[in-house]
Amino acid sequence: MKGIVTKNTDELAAEALKVMLDVVQNNPNAVIGLATGSSPVGLYKKMIEDHKTNGTTYANIKSVNLDEYVGLGIESDQSYVYFMNDNLFKGIDIKAENTNLPNGKAKDMQEECARYTALLNSMPQDIQLLGIGANGHIGFNEPNTPFDSTTHIVELEEGTRRDNARFFASLDEVPTHAITMGIANIMNAKKILVVANGANKAKAVYQMIKGEVSESCPASILQKHNDVVVVVDEAAYSLCK
Ligand code: GLP
Repeated sequence: MKGIVTKNTDELAAEALKVMLDVVQNNPNAVIGLATGSSPVGLYKKMIEDHKTNGTTYANIKSVNLDEYVGLGIESDQSYVYFMNDNLFKGIDIKAENTNLPNGKAKDMQEECARYTALLNSMPQDIQLLGIGANGHIGFNEPNTPFDSTTHIVELEEGTRRDNARFFASLDEVPTHAITMGIANIMNAKKILVVANGANKAKAVYQMIKGEVSESCPASILQKHNDVVVVVDEAAYSLCK
């Protein structure tokens, strides 16, 4: 694992941008794995800025996203598909048909899991961006998800629903289930970029970097991947010193 510790979130986004652009500019046909949550927002802003000022193109880039809430679709501004359009896709020249997220409103969710895993197998990520949950989750792979899991439906932990309630009108509105890429689908990426900031991520960051590799901390599996870059601010890194 390569680690970069930054002074603030602006610097964090700038460092993450370098890693992302290295992939996108060297391979205009790259498959980029994307994430939601507040952690990647600074990076997405910088990708848009760079596209507008330096002309980095996404015309032939394809994207796959980690996860989606079960029951939410584009019409809901809390859905991840809405988030991606709003925070990134509308600001760059990626083609809508080249963007992929699991469908939270599929009629048959098991079939949707199989479809998404087949899609990922047909276009493995050249880079996968990850945030990390306070409990060490990646995507929506909660603690004790098998490391060999592929796309599946999860029941969200109470703590995860509470953490994400800030995006909803009330806790009751946070969906109870999500569809997520499995850990094996994440590990299949050629390169992994993790971004995390804030003291509430310090424990998870410590377990990811220095803890025992165990299904009780999903992010700890990243120690077994041969190309991971972790970009964190000082608060998130504080327990690793
Ligand atoms: C959600 C997402 C994760 C994300 C995590 C952290 O649960 N499914 O992919 O990494 O939240 O979110 P945040 O970056 O907002 O702290």
